[in-house]
Amino acid sequence: MSSNQFASLYASLDQSKLPAHVAVIMDGNGRWAKKRLLNRIRGHEKGAEVVRTIVTACREIGIAVLTLYAFSTENWQRPQTEVSALMALLKKFLKNEKDELLDKDIRLGHIGQAERLPQDVRETLLQTMDATQHCKKMCLNLALSYGSRTEIVHMTQKLARKCRQGELLPGQISEELVAEHLYTHDLPDPDLLIRTSGEMRISNFLLWQIAYSEIYVTKTLWPDFEREELVQILIDYQQRDRRFGKVGK
Ligand code: IPE
Ligand code: IPE
Ligand code: MG
Repeated sequence: MSSNQFASLYASLDQSKLPAHVAVIMDGNGRWAKKRLLNRIRGHEKGAEVVRTIVTACREIGIAVLTLYAFSTENWQRPQTEVSALMALLKKFLKNEKDELLDKDIRLGHIGQAERLPQDVRETLLQTMDATQHCKKMCLNLALSYGSRTEIVHMTQKLARKCRQGELLPGQISEELVAEHLYTHDLPDPDLLIRTSGEMRISNFLLWQIAYSEIYVTKTLWPDFEREELVQILIDYQQRDRRFGKVGK
């Protein structure tokens, strides 16, 4: 697509109807590599480059929050060589992108079990989050060692403890209070959930938060995903009638 074609695609976006929060299940790195007879790690490396492109595009478009599912609690069960390579790639990404994030005024956030990450990765993550905490233009929220069921278990434990300590009565537990005790307490629910590589499943991602998200599944493998397709998905999103259980327009 030429830059002129992209500019006209981009111009057809309705700035008043942008999703505030876009969440992405970045799937298909392994299949991308397999198709090229490459090691799966090469797919993850190419995937990390695409992360950079899509973060920049979202920031330019004006998306306030971008959550990327980068590593699930279940992904710990992959072969040790793949897990180690992913962790090394992650650390490199966090280190290399720090200046870029600052430059672009992007705050880095995290959801998941940081304590399960190797110490060096965890420290780099915390340093980059700390360095960018004042940034205002966009929040890049990385789901790392994230699992929605674990998140819900932790929320339940926190609320149960408050009840036992007499701070809360069971009957006072509301939807708002549940949301306040999830990792995503400071974020709006995703308006749009994108999954690449065609699988029609959620894979333990944001189960509570996507109750009314618009879902878009593309067959494109994550390493082949480009900003043009992102804009096309946003245009598709803007044409949907979000009824939230009510009667449509
Ligand atoms: C997504 O790509 C990246 C992670 C889950 C870490 P995959 O590695 O799942 O790629 P496929 O699904 O095997 O193609
Ligand atoms: C989901 O992809 C997790 C991430 C993208 C990080 P998976 O490849 O792990 O999901 P399944 O195994 O196909 O459900
Ligand atoms: Mg996969």
